[in-house]
Amino acid sequence: MSTLLIKNGLVIGPHGQEIQDILIRDQLFVELSPVIHPPDDTKIVDAGGKWVLPGVIDPHTHMGIPIKDGHSADTFATGSPSALHGGVTTILDFTVLESGQTLAESLDARIELASESLCDVGIHINITRFEPEILAEIPELIARGFNSFKVFTTYAEANMMLTYDQIEAVASIISQHNGVLMVHSEDNDVVTSSSKPFVQEKQTHPRYHGLSRPASAELEAVRQLGEISSRTNCTIYIVHLNTADGLAKAAEYPLLKVETCPHYLLLSEKMYERGDGQMFVSSPPLRTEADCEALWQGIQNGQIHTIGSDHCPFCLADKPDGMAFQDIPNGMGGVETLFPTLLAQFIDRHLDLELLIRLTSRNPAEIFAIDHLKGGIKPGLHADLMIVDPWSIRDDWESSLETSLDWNAYTDYPALFPETVIRRGEIVVEKSSLKSPSTGHILKSN
Ligand code: URP
Ligand code: ZN
Ligand code: ZN
Repeated sequence: MSTLLIKNGLVIGPHGQEIQDILIRDQLFVELSPVIHPPDDTKIVDAGGKWVLPGVIDPHTHMGIPIKDGHSADTFATGSPSALHGGVTTILDFTVLESGQTLAESLDARIELASESLCDVGIHINITRFEPEILAEIPELIARGFNSFKVFTTYAEANMMLTYDQIEAVASIISQHNGVLMVHSEDNDVVTSSSKPFVQEKQTHPRYHGLSRPASAELEAVRQLGEISSRTNCTIYIVHLNTADGLAKAAEYPLLKVETCPHYLLLSEKMYERGDGQMFVSSPPLRTEADCEALWQGIQNGQIHTIGSDHCPFCLADKPDGMAFQDIPNGMGGVETLFPTLLAQFIDRHLDLELLIRLTSRNPAEIFAIDHLKGGIKPGLHADLMIVDPWSIRDDWESSLETSLDWNAYTDYPALFPETVIRRGEIVVEKSSLKSPSTGHILKSN
């Protein structure tokens, strides 16, 4: 039995910061109290004057997903150490449904790949084919402890799209079994008609990626999904929402949950005009500065429930300058900078750190039904936490990253990296450097 005591940390809760000792035994939080006298063989970590925050749950990563001519640049083996360095102790990743595979086969393949992860891993199940056999698997998979499924309202050209009628049929089944439906929400008809002029006129600059996937695509998809959630009584989680209009529409539907991402909060469509503008191509595209500000408002008024990285990185050579926007691999990296940049922003904007904890830990745990395991610093939960020195905010953090990637979108932003990270009671980052952690667990919903 290994026992660890985090001494004198400033634990952030609903009533502000309180100095607490935290006792950890056998991977779990055991006790929180202003003074704990531990057994003799306890290892003590001094957190005096520092914040102690729950380990982050990143609800949206894509480790090594196949694209047209290759894979996104991080695998579970390379992406998870950088996640830990940024305080992310749990990632929720997605299956890839290959042709001819069942959902269960795609899940088993993903579990196999995730065995290399140093973070704990939950897995969402992508449904990119609408067939009776596939629908019949949903209840069995929920019973197995995998309760979240994702569909796309677009990417018809990649054979990944479901129509709204098909999505409604999927939502009905998921709702009957208390699961969650996640949706990539860009209306395909709007995208198709908006892209046509740029394709016809052979306009290939990255800015046309943004113009070909306008905000109205998100608005229409969110409206349709809101109606589906009401008709089916299904909780629908809108992934990577990024427009003011989409956010306002989502707020009309009580069963919609909303995720946004750091790139949509911090970076605007102006990035496409930079020399390396192609590196910022992701779907949905970056929006206006007014949209970014509307998302910050949505964070403060509770209309946004989680912040995920949508970690899907590519290296400079994968997105060469001059590549036509239609051919640029979609996606950006961000699992390592997710929390450190948000924390710096929350401090700068004088926002409540308890709200940040809710968005990055408690809410994803509750929405994806892993709150019996994770989601806060509470006796009985997995001992996932980080210790942060509030005074160590930095601008020159890029060289200290663990990532193997050669490009980072956030170098213009300050960041506050954790000093110590603990995952299930194991110290995985010490003095801001990665140790040699054991591998993660696959998580099941309750
Ligand atoms: O452009 C993005 N976001 N790529 C990753 C896949 C997705 O749609 O989330
Ligand atoms: Zn997506
Ligand atoms: Zn994604």
